[in-house]
Amino acid sequence: MAASLLNATGIGNIPRMDDKPRHRDSMPADADPTAFPQAGRERMILPQPISALGTGQPNMEAPLLARMSPERVFMMGDNPALPRMPQAPTLLDFFRLRFSEITFRHLLQSAKTALEAGQDEKIVIACLLHDISNGALLRTEHGYWSAQIVAPYVSEEVAWAIQYHQALRYFADESVGFKYPDAYNRFFGTDYEPPEYIQQAHREARAHRWYMTSRLITIYDLYSFQDDVSIDPEMFTDVIGRNFRQPKEGLGFDGSPTAHMWRTMIWPNNFL
Ligand SMILES: [Fe+2]
Ligand SMILES: [Fe+2]
Repeated sequence: MAASLLNATGIGNIPRMDDKPRHRDSMPADADPTAFPQAGRERMILPQPISALGTGQPNMEAPLLARMSPERVFMMGDNPALPRMPQAPTLLDFFRLRFSEITFRHLLQSAKTALEAGQDEKIVIACLLHDISNGALLRTEHGYWSAQIVAPYVSEEVAWAIQYHQALRYFADESVGFKYPDAYNRFFGTDYEPPEYIQQAHREARAHRWYMTSRLITIYDLYSFQDDVSIDPEMFTDVIGRNFRQPKEGLGFDGSPTAHMWRTMIWPNNFL
């Protein structure tokens, strides 16, 4: 079995102590731009534990570990089923190459509506990023995750506003024309009551000097999924340039406290 694998990767039949380095050297990155890591082997993907928990879907960890062999390994690195990310990915690369269609459109539409209403750029960037974790990472606690992932790159006020928009969405503020969302009645049922920690977060936000920054996110938080609406993300290039500290190494590779979250979206199928 080992011999057939070695043939498949062009190394020859005789196993050697230095097979691994030779294997890598035998396929320099520039020789075949379509090459993917772990060549010549089946690459198994274990779904993230949290995505299966409580769903009735079986946890595949033990069955996949039992299938492991020299020809069948766990995926690490680029997955050919996903568009390849550039070496130094920008925020808009994540929009275009990773985010789900609905999140892509929702964020662009929120930001565009805020921009057209003449809002300050801090509101526009907050709208553009407010649900970013829903794009390719996690929906649960999305305000907190979204705030955390962008915190190293935006102002403290923008990150704060993103975090608290999750709670503020559940509470009307008639003074600015914000009503409890009809969509939430459909999502959760008409008798849904947010838990105490969300009610507490709402009270904190109400008393805070940045309340209106977060409240404005909820005002432009529009659910609109028409197929005919198309917004070019490039229209936000300048706003991003002035309000999002894009690292020259690329998101995921700048050593920031949240770089690992960006890398998780680049390589969502890595085993470890
Ligand atoms: Fe949200
Ligand atoms: Fe939203």
